[in-house]
Amino acid sequence: MLLNSKGFALLLATSIALITAAFLFLLDHIQFTVLVVAFCISFAASFLLIYVSLEFLIFKEIQNIYIGIDKINRKEFKSYTEQSIQSSKNPLKRLNQEIAAYAVRKQQEIEELRKLETFRREFIADVSHELKTPIFAAQGFVLTLLDGAVDDENVRYKFLKKAAKSLEGLNLLVQDLLVLSQLESGDLTMQLDIIDIQDLTKDVFEQLEEKAGKKSIELLLKNPKPEGVYITADPVRMTQVMTNLILNGIKYGNEGGYVAVYFKEDDQRMAVAVEDNGIGIPKEHIKRIFDRFYRVEKSRSKKQGGTGLGLAIVKHILEKHNAKISVQSVIEQGSTFSFKIDKGVPDKL
Ligand SMILES: Nc1ncnc2c1ncn2[C@@H]1O[C@H](COP(=O)(O)OP(=O)(O)OP(=O)(O)O)[C@@H](O)[C@H]1O
Ligand SMILES: [Mg+2]
Repeated sequence: MLLNSKGFALLLATSIALITAAFLFLLDHIQFTVLVVAFCISFAASFLLIYVSLEFLIFKEIQNIYIGIDKINRKEFKSYTEQSIQSSKNPLKRLNQEIAAYAVRKQQEIEELRKLETFRREFIADVSHELKTPIFAAQGFVLTLLDGAVDDENVRYKFLKKAAKSLEGLNLLVQDLLVLSQLESGDLTMQLDIIDIQDLTKDVFEQLEEKAGKKSIELLLKNPKPEGVYITADPVRMTQVMTNLILNGIKYGNEGGYVAVYFKEDDQRMAVAVEDNGIGIPKEHIKRIFDRFYRVEKSRSKKQGGTGLGLAIVKHILEKHNAKISVQSVIEQGSTFSFKIDKGVPDKL
């Protein structure tokens, strides 16, 4: 810097000393030595005063601003935010802190936007990939039929059925995506009601009986409560949560295994757990299974008709109920998904 604190202090001190000497010179009978001494003293005193105040009050703070900006550029937010939180009486220090806090906020917003942008890009790539598979499959069957297979009575029905199955998969995927986007945008509000989750689970069991039967998987209600198990939740969404969890238990369960649901209440909340003795989830995948499109074994999940959206939807719905899903799993032994939800007091009428 051309004018640092020393240069600035020298300039100002010289001017002050010159002005002082000039004033003294106006007095009568003033000796030259006195003038020189007065010049030197006022120069030294002014220089020291100005230099120290500039150095400690202004330039040091400006230096701190540079250090801070440098830290922000190097993304060392933590240390700088902590330092900038302490308030000070020095206006320059406060300004420095304000600048730092603002810069950190802006930098974090930029980071967040960048993350969102990457996420959006990945999401579009994932969605296109997932949509491509059933569309290509259905297209393949229809084209084969148009190419002449339609005249063969044996394959006609088979191909049409396969095309319909692919389109059904496509429909389910689009529906799941819609629900997920509505949940995330906040468009889907929960219609809270007091519901008997035990009854709801029995209904879900009925719906999935056939699927479970195909793998000889038993659907159990552990420790059933004759008086019912009441919670405060949106019945439609809670059915979706239980269906997803129980269906996963069946899909990733072993032949002849079980899926058990049980409830445990404490003072305010009801714990709901869905347990299976299926293939389990490797530790390193547990954190990610709630991400959309995430599947532990893509091939196995695909065979089961899975898109990897089920648990993402479950997580979102539960969050809207102030509940957090957790999972415990041991590979080859099974998994338990559980959450705690607000209890409900049923109407006595
Ligand atoms: N009970 C379970 N046992 C073992 N693995 C599971 C279990 N539940 C989920 N997973 C694993 O977590 C992944 C994500 O589950 P999620 O329900 O989100 O997707 P999906 O079942 O593949 O597809 P979708 O539910 O959308 O039809 C699954 O692909 C599977 O690998
Ligand atoms: Mg699933």
